[in-house]
Amino acid sequence: MEQLLKDWDGETVVVRYDRPTGAWIFIAIHSTRLGPATGGTRMMRYPSPEVAISDALKLAAGMTYKFAVPEFPRGGGKAVVAIPDDFDPQTRTDLLRRYGKLIQQLGGLFYTGPDVGTSSSDMDIIAQTGAPYIHSRTPSAGGAGSSGPATAMGVFTGIQVVCERLFGDPSLEGRRVLVQGVGGVGESLIEHLRTAGAEVLFSEVDEQLVRRFRDELGFQFVPAETVYSTECDIFSPCALGGVLSGDTISQLKCRAVAGGANTQLAGPEDAERLRTRGILYAPDYVINVGGAMAITGIEALGWSRGEAVRQVVHSILGGLRQVFKLAEKEGITTEAAARRVAEEHLSKGS
Ligand code: PHE
Repeated sequence: MEQLLKDWDGETVVVRYDRPTGAWIFIAIHSTRLGPATGGTRMMRYPSPEVAISDALKLAAGMTYKFAVPEFPRGGGKAVVAIPDDFDPQTRTDLLRRYGKLIQQLGGLFYTGPDVGTSSSDMDIIAQTGAPYIHSRTPSAGGAGSSGPATAMGVFTGIQVVCERLFGDPSLEGRRVLVQGVGGVGESLIEHLRTAGAEVLFSEVDEQLVRRFRDELGFQFVPAETVYSTECDIFSPCALGGVLSGDTISQLKCRAVAGGANTQLAGPEDAERLRTRGILYAPDYVINVGGAMAITGIEALGWSRGEAVRQVVHSILGGLRQVFKLAEKEGITTEAAARRVAEEHLSKGS
């Protein structure tokens, strides 16, 4: 644990052990250089508190780069609520209220929104004690609603830029795209892809979602066992992070990877592995900024919905094209190029 924190290049970590539930809360503040640290609240079970904190640290850094590429005036942070194996769902509301209180005590150091395991309705509860630092509440509670559709729209824009790069044409017509995970982001993404004429495949572990998207909506289902080895033009991870590793990259039969999940690379060497295999990688944080940007823009900067859509599309078009160009010019991975763009913008911040 000590080494983990020493090796991290962020600013602050807030730790709370929630005694009534046995949950651990870690709020990682990676950078406040461009603005107040902002990032989702991830709520799930982890094998250990160490794994949970390490996830928070990595995800918070991702938020810093995510906002830095389009020079959006927010810093990077992330919260992880690691619930115990025997968590009683009945205690969830009280846990969220205590968590909200903690955010309020931080007095604006950290702003949050939904992430894996939390929803806009959870944000409504957290905001009861945590306002005004809680984004993405439901519209009936006065918020801008779920961030998933805006994230998906941004990822879709990123996929168009990938097609432009691969085929000289941004059109998705007839392209085969495999989406891993049809949760908050994946479900809107596959609709965009279908509307654009793509051949859409999806993979999902939740049986209920599989039934809905395969049986009711007619999308092609790919079981988890073959998700990495299924032939497609674009593989789009939209579930959890760490899916691109030595093992999975060697199985891939795609031309490009472009998805909405955070921290897709298992380790730093995996960007090079993708490049060596000739697979074009759209760095996760460059194309998944849409939700955080649109929601924060609407709620904190007074953007209209139309303005938010324009900003997201414009930022991702510009950001990803710049990253691809720089990677080619310098002979580096797209991940390294994205990092360079982000660092450059961060060094201009005060
Ligand atoms: N889950 C979002 C992300 O990873 C976090 C977020 C959503 C932040 C909405 C602010 C507002 O980008």
